[in-house]
Amino acid sequence: MMYNRSLMWLGIDIGTGGSRALLVNSQGEVVAAHTAAHEEILMLQPLWAEQRPENWWDAAVASVQGVLAASGIVPSEIKGVGLSGQMHGLVVLDASNQVLRPSLIWCDQRSQAQVDWVNSTVGRQKVLDCIANPVLTGFTLPKLLWVRDHEPEVYEKVRKVLLPKDYIRFKLTGDFATEVSDASGTALFDVVNRRWSTELASAVGVDPAGLPKCYESSDITGTISKEASALTGIPEGTPVVGGGGDQAASAVGNGIVSAGIVSCTLGTSGVVFAHMEQVAYDPAGRVHTFCHAVRDKWHVMGVTQGAGLSLQWFRNQLAPGIDYDMLMAEAATSPAGSQGLQWLPYLMGERTPHLDAMARGGWIGLTAKHRRADLIRSLIEGVSYSQKDCLDIVEGLGVAVGSVRASGGGAKSPFWRQILADVFDKPVVTLASQEGSALGAALLAMVGTGEYTSVPEVCGAVVREQARVEPDAATAAIYSKGHKVYQSLYPALKDSFLKM
Ligand code: XUL
Repeated sequence: MMYNRSLMWLGIDIGTGGSRALLVNSQGEVVAAHTAAHEEILMLQPLWAEQRPENWWDAAVASVQGVLAASGIVPSEIKGVGLSGQMHGLVVLDASNQVLRPSLIWCDQRSQAQVDWVNSTVGRQKVLDCIANPVLTGFTLPKLLWVRDHEPEVYEKVRKVLLPKDYIRFKLTGDFATEVSDASGTALFDVVNRRWSTELASAVGVDPAGLPKCYESSDITGTISKEASALTGIPEGTPVVGGGGDQAASAVGNGIVSAGIVSCTLGTSGVVFAHMEQVAYDPAGRVHTFCHAVRDKWHVMGVTQGAGLSLQWFRNQLAPGIDYDMLMAEAATSPAGSQGLQWLPYLMGERTPHLDAMARGGWIGLTAKHRRADLIRSLIEGVSYSQKDCLDIVEGLGVAVGSVRASGGGAKSPFWRQILADVFDKPVVTLASQEGSALGAALLAMVGTGEYTSVPEVCGAVVREQARVEPDAATAAIYSKGHKVYQSLYPALKDSFLKM
């Protein structure tokens, strides 16, 4: 390979399923990568979801040790580190910087009462004016307020509130810092002015002193400490940049850094993401308007809570031991439309378009004729319909969508990519690198350490389209009808979900 071996950048993504570290060279090519799995999500009650920050740290250390061993590079070649991570999670530390309780993670939906309290105490319009978004159960603030209301003995000890990747930053550098894209998902951040909303924080009684210092995503926030160096092998003093929430970082990895390119990332969640030059928001709050990891730019995104999660749940509960490729091959034996079967992917409530923590998942339309193949295909179609709901709202905000760049675990399947193209009725493109968030974090580190002058510049140099699938007109027509049936189901079931 023709690259300067003396320059490497490290991206570390603290995902939901695991932590992934990767090294890129000065051309932005991935030289090596290593993933260390996380413990299973702890679900003590329906719609609750917790993980242990200490486990993320162990996995982050293992992923870095793994990538260094796999690459065989000399650690002093690392010029910078970027972080990305699952968004919205609540990490609380006490006065001696110890984790006070497991993190309530992004898909935890227990905080509806706290959301209602914020809306009635502050007022919905005032909240929108402060943070450009409604407060949602998934966001960090209502989770903190849940701890206040249910675990006062924990709450009184809270001195610092961090997001998942920023806890890893603290462990790596000793600094309490975050960056604009992840801070946007806390419901405490003034997205328009790119700073903490001290106004909202004081209205809900949160001390802004407990919030980390906020940077732009490619700014250097600190350097690797001696202790972290001894554990990870990254040299002491190596700069660490802000990085991004996993979606903004993935958008950098996918080159969604200028107007007109839209992505669909099928991980545990599914996200349709578009770049914005100016702030615009959906008055109904069905999609999030957040700061982008590109300096002084924003993005809009719609989120399906249970995307890859639907398939993972199916496999774990109904098809143990069968791998995803086999499930996809089985699904391909069912016809488009799954013989009239519909899947509602609301396994952890739903964000876009329903904003309903109480929504529940399930199949509708089962008959004795249906086979397991129809169950799997309907599941993929239902998640794709939900992503189409997101895309429609994003387009409704005036974003032009020529094609959609697909990434994440789900997009590795050509079968799912074709279904996406047919449901969206748009070409679906994949990129030469499928790395997404960890790559985006490394590219942000390249900008922060001066290898490139801007995020669009590094993306222009590094991100390459590779394959493209076109929609099939006949199948798109079947899905257009199927999507309408799908859309009719939630309103019909909404009241019943509440009674469950
Ligand atoms: C984005 C979101 C998810 C999580 C987990 O708003 O909640 O993407 O970050 O991936």
